[in-house]
Amino acid sequence: MSRDVKGTYRAQSNREEDVKGTYKAQSAAAGATSAAGSETHGGRGRRGPTTRMVPVPSQSIVPERDADKSPILECRHLGIDFGGLRAVDDFNLMIGRTEIAGLIGPNGAGKTTVFNLLTKVYAPTRGTILLDGVDTAGMDTPKVSQAGIARTFQNIRLFDSLTVEDNVRIGLHNQIQCGMWSGMLRLPRHWVSEKEFHDKSLELLDVFGMAGNADDIAGSLPYGAQRRLEIVRALATNPKLLLLDEPAAGMNPSETAELMDNIVRIRDMFNIAVLLIEHDMDLVMGICEGIAVLNFGKIIAKGTPAEIQSNPQVIEAYLGKQD
Ligand SMILES: Nc1ncnc2c1ncn2[C@@H]1O[C@H](COP(=O)(O)OP(=O)(O)O)[C@@H](O)[C@H]1O
Ligand SMILES: [Mg+2]
Repeated sequence: MSRDVKGTYRAQSNREEDVKGTYKAQSAAAGATSAAGSETHGGRGRRGPTTRMVPVPSQSIVPERDADKSPILECRHLGIDFGGLRAVDDFNLMIGRTEIAGLIGPNGAGKTTVFNLLTKVYAPTRGTILLDGVDTAGMDTPKVSQAGIARTFQNIRLFDSLTVEDNVRIGLHNQIQCGMWSGMLRLPRHWVSEKEFHDKSLELLDVFGMAGNADDIAGSLPYGAQRRLEIVRALATNPKLLLLDEPAAGMNPSETAELMDNIVRIRDMFNIAVLLIEHDMDLVMGICEGIAVLNFGKIIAKGTPAEIQSNPQVIEAYLGKQD
């Protein structure tokens, strides 16, 4: 079955407007009160979000604006063992529908493993993952992607020899299935779909001002642009929850500052939740509304940026050891 892609993206109706105007308009319409917080997210060293956080079960907190809606993600007693190693254990977390959440902790703490559990690279040894209220038990990686989780990787994973546009199309293919027969016979519907793919790819690339790079070979892009392309490809799957694994790794300070703005902008444009793993504390404290700290596979603290920065256990296990 060929499916119309129009209306798939929430940002669609505002494409003609300039990007800044668009996301502000969207935020106002969505009642995303953190947009006020976004004003302060602009760069390194600025104070963090002004979001009011409220307690929810799982000893978690979510933004007040999301509190009356079901969480986008809920992990209950999630865990995985690798042989004798309890890589993740009793991981409990709720993330609000439009929250920017952070997952931090020392190297080897289990952060990437949490992403691998959420995306079903690994099956959990224990526990439950609810995505938008739906238990993902039994789902594989493509199913979870279709259900609304997208991710980027600690080490960039692009199809280096393909064009920028083709990389985005791979994300779109997850969303839109062209009928097999119309595709094989190249019937008109196939071409309609082709045009839709092309237009949608450029529209998504334009979120990062990359539409002009559509025909470039992905592997030839500068590092920062490859990182952005990976995010665009993830967005092409129309996620409800975007997982970013060390998105600022290898970026210089000005690229990181731009990335911070972009993450907030994406959240506001697409009205999604973001969970990010990151070591750059300016970025984490600057844009994350709720933060969970992992150490030896266990959550040792959850809280707002201010609470996390002043938590003695977190300072002892992680922040105090930052260089
Ligand atoms: N597939 C695997 N097999 C065995 N051990 C693993 C596997 N994946 C991760 N680990 C181990 O799990 C722990 C957590 O790793 P990881 O999630 O990558 O940490 P982080 O992302 O916090 O740096 C580490 O000790 C790592 O060696
Ligand atoms: Mg990792």
